[in-house]
Amino acid sequence: MEGFYAFLFIFTCIFNIHPGARAIGINYGLNGDDLPTPTDVVSLLKSKSISNIRLFEPNPNVLEALQGSGISVIVGTRNEDLQALASDASAATKWVETNILPYTSLNFKCISAGNEVPAEQTQYLPAAMQNLDAALTAASQSIPVTTAVSMSVLSASDPPSKGAFGSEIMSQVTSFLVSKGGPLLLNAYTYFPRISYPENVKLEFALFEGGATVVHDDPYSYDNLFDAMVDAVHAALEKAGGSDVEIIVTETGWPTEGSADASVENAMKYNNNLIRHLAAGSGTPRKPGKSVEAYIFALFNEDLKAEGVEQHWGLFYPNMTEVYPVDF
Ligand SMILES: *[C@@H]1O[C@H](CO)[C@@H](O)[C@H](O)[C@H]1NC(C)=O
Repeated sequence: MEGFYAFLFIFTCIFNIHPGARAIGINYGLNGDDLPTPTDVVSLLKSKSISNIRLFEPNPNVLEALQGSGISVIVGTRNEDLQALASDASAATKWVETNILPYTSLNFKCISAGNEVPAEQTQYLPAAMQNLDAALTAASQSIPVTTAVSMSVLSASDPPSKGAFGSEIMSQVTSFLVSKGGPLLLNAYTYFPRISYPENVKLEFALFEGGATVVHDDPYSYDNLFDAMVDAVHAALEKAGGSDVEIIVTETGWPTEGSADASVENAMKYNNNLIRHLAAGSGTPRKPGKSVEAYIFALFNEDLKAEGVEQHWGLFYPNMTEVYPVDF
């Protein structure tokens, strides 16, 4: 009996330390003129046991505050920097020297070459990723380089097995990720298909509230839109020769104001259901048993974003009071 409990204890320690905390992170955006100091933000994150953060660009004050915190960081390059990073290896070396090497006690999970890179800049992506990877390797840093894409990189996604990339650049990105073993970063909002096609996309399906199969994609079936979106990208990766490329969802969430379906009630349902879904570790129908890691957008309501729904994605007000309770 004693042996059994010892076994159970060890098992619990290894596999269950913080199932939610492991799978969930938050986007820390800085488009507000009333946001708390990075040091206060790090204290807030620790008090909520949030151990993964994604930054859109390498802000030195934020990176400094995160040093030694134990919080892992996905950091992006700005889209505007991709052309220089692609055309000049020394620009990539400089980027790594400025934004990575000084932070010796920071755990960088990966580096995102841009975010939802606009069509006119995607041509720079493969070379920018190569140059950043070479610069990191030369500096003895084993940090994967990748990029963050939205669902718009797919030419088809319904049903998920039809998922395919719409451009040659994504084949090159996939080959790079396969050769380096890095993840693909995906921004996947169920909110947008819901507000664009309310007659086809049921609110319950977008909020993980239905429980019943809505999309049949033999042999797979989907009771929530999040899994269907992630699996459409899994299918696209598979067709591009990247069936083993891991997907990290770098943005997902629900707004609290500014449209018919934006409300505190819906946002609270979405984000808490998401956390519960990922913590269960059941994965998606195409990749069962392998939960994706997901980053909620966003930490704060940001008042310098476009008016309306854009300003209301935060889990916290700038004064660090929660907009609604989230069970991390
Ligand atoms: C924080 O800000 C929100 C939104 O402005 C406000 O409703 C709330 O009362 C504030 N809380 C504190 C403790 O100041």
